[in-house]
Amino acid sequence: MKILAIETSCDDTGIAILEVKNGNFNVLSNMVSSQIKIHKKYGGVFPAMAKREHQKNIVSVLIKSLKKSSLLKSGSSKLNPDKLQSILEREPELYKKIVSFLKKYKNPDIDLIAVTNGPGLEPCLWVGINFAKALSYAWNIPVVPVNHIEGHILVNFLDHKKINFPAIALVVSGGHTQIILIKGVGKYKILGETRDDAAGECFDKCAKILGLPYPGGPEIAKLAAKAGLSRESRAFAKLPRPMINTKDYDFSFSGLKTAVLYADQKVKNKNKKYKTGMALEVQQAIIDVLVKKTLKAVRDYKAKTLILGGGVSANKELRRQFNYQLKTKNYKLNFLVPPANLSTDNGLMTAITAYFHRNKKVAPQKVATLRANANLRIN
Ligand code: KG4
Ligand code: ZN
Repeated sequence: MKILAIETSCDDTGIAILEVKNGNFNVLSNMVSSQIKIHKKYGGVFPAMAKREHQKNIVSVLIKSLKKSSLLKSGSSKLNPDKLQSILEREPELYKKIVSFLKKYKNPDIDLIAVTNGPGLEPCLWVGINFAKALSYAWNIPVVPVNHIEGHILVNFLDHKKINFPAIALVVSGGHTQIILIKGVGKYKILGETRDDAAGECFDKCAKILGLPYPGGPEIAKLAAKAGLSRESRAFAKLPRPMINTKDYDFSFSGLKTAVLYADQKVKNKNKKYKTGMALEVQQAIIDVLVKKTLKAVRDYKAKTLILGGGVSANKELRRQFNYQLKTKNYKLNFLVPPANLSTDNGLMTAITAYFHRNKKVAPQKVATLRANANLRIN
């Protein structure tokens, strides 16, 4: 079976094609078009602008993805412009692009379309959903809606299909910070989550205060790596580790950002040494809290597997410090982290998740009922 997956929940336009044979995954393509260059100018993601970029890019990402998978065939697909226009009535520009695409290429050999339906930025989610509806209709293929958080977890199943449960997942992204108990695929319980800012959001906001470009997570990580571990470089501020000792599994990162703001206001000479030192301390404060709370959940629930996912899990220091704790404290479990390009948003995570939920497919005649849900929960 071949799954074509569409991911547009934030600022990456992702389209992947996954082939599954006897339960084995074969990635045919995983294309991501990043909007970072655009959002960098404004220091963050504006949903309306991100939506426009998805509309502009999604057809060319699809073409690249089909081409890479050797599934792009000249010819033409079924066209009923009126029906397509009604599906895409709010996206006239996308409508034109899809029509010219469908006129040029034949139905590809795809069995299932997957699309992220939440959580995420609602206008962005709608572009992916409407695109999926249009393709479903034109190609007569069913659609599986996918939860983005579950995608960040199940992308780890690409190379490890034999997962031991219970598992604990830490999903850390620009919009979410959640510790999730997993008893099996589809059986989730959120044990705790952030009460305010997400970890990635905290990285991004602290980076902005320090005058670093968007997205701040990788920028802080780069600077922190330069600082090394010298005490001197951290001496500019000792930042709080909010909620690190509470008995629940919740987080709070907005106080950390405020502490960075106050510390920054006191420093006159914001030289390189200051910035690298602050970057190191911000990163360490976030890591300390994430590691401590996650390992508490691992112990409390006797987890056999620990899974990381989401953009922040691309952070090398976070991975290293988890590994170090697991090794030195003698935890006996499997530790799964996606490669960095699968930590951040991509279509493959959506494809893998759709495979596990293929029985939830919606027939082409019923895809009109699919909706974006910006606040979709995993349980
Ligand atoms: O999962 P993701 O790509 O999008 C959302 O679903 O939000 O996560 C994006 C977040 C951003 O906040 C970004 O700064 C952060 O992940 N991020 C990182 C790193 N790479 C991306 N944070 C820390 N260190 C990194 N290396
Ligand atoms: Zn994400």
